[in-house]
Amino acid sequence: MTKMADSGSSVEIVEGCRLPVLRKNQEHEDEWPLAEILSVKEVSGRKLYYVHYIDFNKRLDEWVTADRLDMKKLQFPKKEAKTPTKNGLPGSRPSSPERELRKSLDLNLQSATAPSRGKTLPTPKRKVEPVPLVPQVPPAPPVASLPASTEASPAAVYPAARETNTFKTREDHDQISSLTTNGTARRLIPSQPGRKRKANCGPTDEMIKVLQYNKPQSASVFLPPPEDSQDSSDGIPSAPRMTGSLVSDRSHDDIVTRMKNIECIELGRHRLKPWYFSPYPQELTSLPILYLCEFCLKYLKSLKCLQRHLVNKASLQNWLNPVNPAGQSDCCSCVFDQTKCNLRHPPGNEIYRKGTISFFEIDGRKNKNYSQNLCLLAKCFLDHKTLYYDTDPFLFYVMTEYDSKGFHIVGYFSKEKESTEDYNVACILTLPPYQRRGYGKLLIEFSYELSKVEGKTGTPEKPLSDLGLLSYRSYWSQTILEILMDLKPDNGERPQITINEISEITSVKKEDVISTLQYLNLINYYKGQYILTLSEDIVDGHERAMQKRHTRIDPKCLHFTPKDWSKRGKW
Ligand code: ACO
Ligand code: ZN
Repeated sequence: MTKMADSGSSVEIVEGCRLPVLRKNQEHEDEWPLAEILSVKEVSGRKLYYVHYIDFNKRLDEWVTADRLDMKKLQFPKKEAKTPTKNGLPGSRPSSPERELRKSLDLNLQSATAPSRGKTLPTPKRKVEPVPLVPQVPPAPPVASLPASTEASPAAVYPAARETNTFKTREDHDQISSLTTNGTARRLIPSQPGRKRKANCGPTDEMIKVLQYNKPQSASVFLPPPEDSQDSSDGIPSAPRMTGSLVSDRSHDDIVTRMKNIECIELGRHRLKPWYFSPYPQELTSLPILYLCEFCLKYLKSLKCLQRHLVNKASLQNWLNPVNPAGQSDCCSCVFDQTKCNLRHPPGNEIYRKGTISFFEIDGRKNKNYSQNLCLLAKCFLDHKTLYYDTDPFLFYVMTEYDSKGFHIVGYFSKEKESTEDYNVACILTLPPYQRRGYGKLLIEFSYELSKVEGKTGTPEKPLSDLGLLSYRSYWSQTILEILMDLKPDNGERPQITINEISEITSVKKEDVISTLQYLNLINYYKGQYILTLSEDIVDGHERAMQKRHTRIDPKCLHFTPKDWSKRGKW
């Protein structure tokens, strides 16, 4: 156990201690959330404490000075809770739900992160590197099973209800979907035997019928029985998935990899502050700034190295941040590849261009260095996945914004060439300078446009991060509402649509359609039928949200021919 005396105080603060720590909330007000000390270091005679705010996302972890600690409420770690530390010896940190998931895997971080001479990140095939990760979204309670298809009732059209509020009795009301505390929807299972749906749906058991149409945008639907209702789209799979460019794997919750290791990344004209650990070579982790070529994503230890890397030095100054940080003069004995870079865009094929937005398709086998560098960069902002060096089975779709200096990376998503789970996205990222400007939804929209061309439905790989869940929820909601609100009465009859049809039109996997309807709390139960009603609030909110979606993917600008990877033998 590392014991460190707190300067100016007789109390010893050790790793694993918990106490309130001062931080600013989103409104820039002071707050004192409980935090855990993950590490202690001394810089210029001053103690610094690396804190994790309990119940907050790890990206908020930070080094703080002693004056931000509320020593009066200091809790010492419980003795029995031993967790391994950096050197593998038992630590003193109390067990947390995150660490309960830990498995005792013996990891050799040093060898995993040190690159061999002249190459970036060569590793054996299918090797999973020791990047640990903790899910940031708590496992959603499984969506309660809806009646099995064998019990489904005939998809009969009921007389239209006159009122928007279709609940007449307590019994009926008991059947509605309810939102759980973590924002996922859960439907209460009908308890009365008489409410069970009967078999005979056959091919129409997916039917959603629009029953109620007393207002143009008020609709009711039947909810079909999903085949695998346990598979909530934001749920966490029972076992970690061992494939994926950034694999979901919580088994490596290591003290080193729990902490951010890169201070700052300069990428073109942006400086990025990483949120999480990323296994860049260890010798680079002490640098104040890590330089990345914004076109090939090669990492370099100094500005001078970057300048050498780039061919056209004349235009270089325009791309670089004018601030030339200290300590750059001793460049450049880099062990890294010093080949010159001619790229002004990501490698691969440009398969989409509209206005200044382009998408490049990059084959993880053909452009291995680029793909690995992209994963390393992405890992700085993705916590719940483990970096995976065999990029061969993946395609990477990089979104760029064009200006006279080149095609600047904005974000990307990766996608398995073949997915047995219908995943159409493995990892998705908008780089922080571009976040919250609609690019995430544009990436998601693009991923579904690819699925449409493939003639498939798709879903993102699980688990989703907190921000991933927000973005997908928002995309799915808008996409489905767009369809429902566009439904026109058919010969004066109420419009009808099935879950399958929504899924086919949008390429959103059926389970995600259902979970979104539940999340929106639109699904009610009335007289033995699942009914959906679009309230005015929903309609207004949707219209407002759509006005904000200025940039959309234009399918006409997509030049993409899907490959049948299963026939290729090798990726
Ligand atoms: N706080 C609250 N809401 C947010 C935030 C935030 N920090 N970020 C995004 N959102 C919401 C937006 O409000 C928006 O919803 P709205 O339009 O209904 O208001 C929705 O999410 C999408 O916003 P965009 O601007 O389109 O998304 P953005 O460009 O910010 O990208 C993304 C979203 C990709 C998830 C980004 O936050 C990111 O890269 N995060 C880090 C990596 C990550 O977590 N990726 C997802 C992992 S899951 C997986 O890989 C399958
Ligand atoms: Zn380059």
